[in-house]
Parts: sequence; structure tokens; C-alpha cells
Amino acid sequence: MSQQKTQPESTLPKNLAADPRFLAVERTIKQYQFRADALIEVLHVAQEAFGYLSEELMSYVARQLKIPYSRVYGVATFYHFFSLEPRGKHSCVVCTGTACYVKRSSEIVARLEQEFDVRAGKTTADGALTLSTVRCLGSCGLAPVMVLDGETVGRCSSESAVAAVHVLIDSGRTPGSIAAEEQSRRKRRGGGA
Ligand code: FES
Repeated sequence: MSQQKTQPESTLPKNLAADPRFLAVERTIKQYQFRADALIEVLHVAQEAFGYLSEELMSYVARQLKIPYSRVYGVATFYHFFSLEPRGKHSCVVCTGTACYVKRSSEIVARLEQEFDVRAGKTTADGALTLSTVRCLGSCGLAPVMVLDGETVGRCSSESAVAAVHVLIDSGRTPGSIAAEEQSRRKRRGGGA
């Protein structure tokens, strides 16, 4: 019995076929020979290319991998790093895992929701910020932890989180420089965490 899988014909909708970001997705699907077990890798590439997974995109992946749409949707909604909606220009992810929770990360989330008028899991109306939560970022020693535009910021308070997000949005500075400033500010005050 041949192990070679028949490549399905391209079923790319016209509007997407003209989109160069689709090349990366198509390339990945072909690289994995249209195998269903490549679903997560394909979705990663699609998420990176488009910033989120639209229904159209997920349908296309389901057709190409010959799996039910419900399976694609299930995976896309199970993992926090996939988003079904366009994300904001900046991203703030607050950890609500146990170590962060006991250090009051839920208060940080509530404060950010209030300050930026956005619910966790959503994007602000002006598209500036997507606020999300996640269960454990693997940096429990730094709890409470948040990730700003991909950079980890530890030992946050509600005030420092709000200030850091404001700086990020208003000045476009990197989270790393903001965290360093926050740390030296604490040192100057003679505080620690
Ligand atoms: S619980 Fe927050 S980093 Fe582990």
C-alpha cells in the first residue's frame, strides 16, 4: 500500500489566492505533504502570517488537510496563542496561573480592563491593544507576570502594569526598556519586588 498522499487540488478562494501571506501557509501545507497531523504547525504559520485565524482561513486549512472544520476550530480555540479575531497593534498577556493568582494577578487584569476599556480576550476599539490572560507562562518565580509584545515583565503591580502599557502604546518603546526602567526605579527607591 502506498504511503504517498494525494495532494488535493488548490481550493484557495480567489481573494486569498492574491494574498502573498497565503504563500507561507500553502508552502507549509505542502512541506508536510497535506498531513492532518501537521495541523498545529500549519495554524502557527497561518497565525503568524495573518495575525489571527479567520473562518475562511480555517476552512481552507481543513479542506487541504482533509479534516473536519470542527477539529481545526477545536485546536484554534484550545491554545491561547491562536486568535480568532484580529489582534491589536500591541499585546498584553497577564498570567492567571496559580503562582500569579496568589500574587493578585486578577487585580492587574481588572485594573487593565478598566483603564483601557477592554475585556480580557478582546481588543480595544481603536485597535491599539489586545488584552489576554493565560494559565502559567513558566516564569512562576517572577509572579505576577505579564508579557508585553512578546517580552516578559515580572513582579508587576496593577500600577506598573498600567504604566507600562501606557508607555508602550504612547511612545512605542520596547517592553524590555520599560522593564529595565521599572527595575532601576525600584532600586533607587531601595525597594525590591
Ligand atoms: S503561574 Fe504565572 S508564570 Fe506560572
